[in-house]
Amino acid sequence: MKLFDVYPINDITIVKAKGSYVWDQEGQQYLDLYGGHAVISIGHTHPHYVQRVTEQLNKVGFYSNSIRIPLQEELATKLGQISGRPDYQLFLCNSGAEANENALKLASFHTGRKKVVAFRKSFHGRTSLAVAVTDNPAIAAPINQTDNVIFLPFNDVEALEECFKAQGNEIAAVIIEGIQGVGGINEASAPLLQAISKLCKKYGSVFIADSVQCGYGRSGKFFSQDYAGVDADIYTMAKGMGNGFPVAGIIIAPQLKAKHGMLGTTFGGNHLACAAALAVLEVIEQEKLMANAAETGAYLMEELKKIPQLTRVRGKGLMIGFDVPDSLKDLRKNLLWRQRIFTGEAKPNTIRLLPSLALRKKDADEFLEAIQEEILAMETAEV
Ligand SMILES: Cc1ncc(COP(=O)(O)O)c(C=O)c1O
Repeated sequence: MKLFDVYPINDITIVKAKGSYVWDQEGQQYLDLYGGHAVISIGHTHPHYVQRVTEQLNKVGFYSNSIRIPLQEELATKLGQISGRPDYQLFLCNSGAEANENALKLASFHTGRKKVVAFRKSFHGRTSLAVAVTDNPAIAAPINQTDNVIFLPFNDVEALEECFKAQGNEIAAVIIEGIQGVGGINEASAPLLQAISKLCKKYGSVFIADSVQCGYGRSGKFFSQDYAGVDADIYTMAKGMGNGFPVAGIIIAPQLKAKHGMLGTTFGGNHLACAAALAVLEVIEQEKLMANAAETGAYLMEELKKIPQLTRVRGKGLMIGFDVPDSLKDLRKNLLWRQRIFTGEAKPNTIRLLPSLALRKKDADEFLEAIQEEILAMETAEV
């Protein structure tokens, strides 16, 4: 049987990983500033993580949500404490799209309404509701198309106010990424997030903060929306939550009430997933990784701004984007193949950095040196 060929891949086989580095089968080392798409939060094969997951696997790896799983309660308590939202409720699932799917469904159950406000350049996942609120018709199948989604321009407070004035009583939810990831590292402005919070309260709609990519400490705060001083009704999270183990969740404000059977999943919140998620939070706390993300991210951005060929250096913490001119359009490819550094991209010309939150200053310096060397080599070759 062949694989269903949906991914354009780089011909590299990774066989070993540690911290911010990975190695291929020829023993070639790579600096990982991509984190497998913002997933590696505490660093590859962190010893505490490996130990906690291994120990759990030797006890019990899985049982369904039909029995009591104390690890889920332990995770809820720890997550409440670290996120600063001890009174929220936790529902566990398996991926970012599924987290958004459940958040939107819950908002509709809660309000009895169908309409959702989403924003231009958003990405919320590929399942039915998640892809319907994603601003990319190319990945929505005819069956995903719906009239229930209203797309508004990003960071346009006036458009949001007008939309609520016209149809606020029909709006179940507003869904927004604190920092758009796939869309190219675009930060939601504090006035926009504050307006969403105010209007959702006024009209009884649900404010969903998609924190799948920008959450879990990546921005230097637990949720990037925290910079705007707002509380969303639901936060969705996934990527960094399990450092590679598939675990996701939504945290839900106390006014949204649960009912048996309302949401559910077979795998969500299993023993192994909870052990992985707990290990991640323990390391984030013990090693002060949010502070490290803020500090190392600020340093990286400051230094990147000094490189004249790179423009619009932006982001928060270790979620960074910058644009490259057309003449350097192969820079990302060359960083991978010549400098052995993984980075991310956003079309048409943005390089995205989404490294482990444990990235050290010396790793950042290695990258800064390599990118300048590569730019120089490319410019010299051009002449
Ligand atoms: C902001 C955001 N939401 C949702 C998703 C979907 O997550 P998953 O691929 O785990 O379904 C992604 C994935 O890139 C994302 O960046």
